[in-house]
Amino acid sequence: MSPCINWLQPLLALISSTLLARGHNCPSHCSCPDHHTVDCTGKGLTRVPDSIPLNVRRLLLSNNWIPWIPSDFLVLYSDLVYLDLRNNSLTKMDPGTLSTSSRLVFLDLGNNNLTDIPSGTFGESRSLIKLRMGNNPYLTVVGKDAFMGLTSLRELDLERNGFTELDVRVLEPLSSLQMLRLEGNPWLCNCHFAKLFVWLTENSHKLPSGMEGIECALPLLGRRIPLSLLSEDSFRQCHGNLTLMDYLIVIFSGICVSVAAIVASFFLASTVHCFQRLSKGSNGDEEDGNQ
Ligand SMILES: *[C@@H]1O[C@H](CO)[C@@H](O)[C@H](O)[C@H]1NC(C)=O
Ligand SMILES: *[C@@H]1O[C@H](CO)[C@@H](O)[C@H](O)[C@H]1NC(C)=O
Repeated sequence: MSPCINWLQPLLALISSTLLARGHNCPSHCSCPDHHTVDCTGKGLTRVPDSIPLNVRRLLLSNNWIPWIPSDFLVLYSDLVYLDLRNNSLTKMDPGTLSTSSRLVFLDLGNNNLTDIPSGTFGESRSLIKLRMGNNPYLTVVGKDAFMGLTSLRELDLERNGFTELDVRVLEPLSSLQMLRLEGNPWLCNCHFAKLFVWLTENSHKLPSGMEGIECALPLLGRRIPLSLLSEDSFRQCHGNLTLMDYLIVIFSGICVSVAAIVASFFLASTVHCFQRLSKGSNGDEEDGNQ
C-alpha cells in the first residue's frame, strides 16, 4: 500500500501543479489583474481567446470584433459570474450557449448586431440579475420562451433595438424584474401594441424614464407620440375589431354552451326524479317493516 502512495504523491502533485499553472495562464494580448479576472477589452479580437483560465469569474471581451461564440465555449467556465461582450459583432447566440452558466449574474450583449433572441437562449441562467441587450439595431424578434428560467433577473435592457412590437407574454417568466428599458425602439401604436400598453401602464414604475420616455408611431400618420399621451381608451377599437372567424367561434361556442346546458338540466331532472322514486320506494319498505 504505502509504496504505491509514495509513488502516487509526486504524480498527483505534478498533475495539480500543471492544472494550477494552466489555471493562472493569461491569454496573450489580455491582462489578468487578479486570479479571477481576464480583461481583453478593445484588443481587436475577431474570435474568443484560447487558454482562458478555467477558474475565471469575470471575463471582459467588450470593444472587439467577435462575430460568434461557439456553443460549447462556456461549458468549461462554470465559475463565470460576469461576462461582458458589449460592442462586438455578434449576430446571434446559439440556444444552449449559456445553458451551463448557472452562476452567471451579469451579461452584457449590448451594442452588437443581434437580430433575434430565440427561445432557450439563456437556458436555466437562474442567477442572472442584469441582462443588457440594448443598441442592437437589427434586433426585432423575441422567441416566445426566450426569457424562460430567468427568475432572478432584476434588470433587462432592450433599449434602442428594432422592436415594433413585443408579445407581452415573453415578460411573464421574469418574476423578479425591477427595471425594464424599452425606449428608443420604433414601436407602432397598433392593436398588437395594446396588450403591451396595458402591461406597461401597470408596470410603469419599472420603466426608468416612465411612460413619457417611450414613444410609438401612429399607424397612418407615422407621427411618434409618448405613451404618456395614450390611454387604454386609445386602443378601444381593438376590442371591437372581431373578424368573421371570431364571430363564428363566438356563435359556435354559444350553441355548444346551450346544448350542454340542456343536456345537464335533463340529466339533473332525471337524477332528481330517480332519487325521488328511490326514496319513495325505501319509505314504503320501512313502512312495510314497521307494520
Ligand atoms: C466599439 O469598439 C470599437 C473597436 O474597439 C471602438 O473603436 C469603438 O469606440 C467602440 N464603441 C463604443 C460605443 O464603445
Ligand atoms: C452590423 O451589421 C451591419 C450591416 O450588416 C454592418 O454594416 C456593421 O458593420 C455591423 N456592425 C458590426 C459591429 O459588426
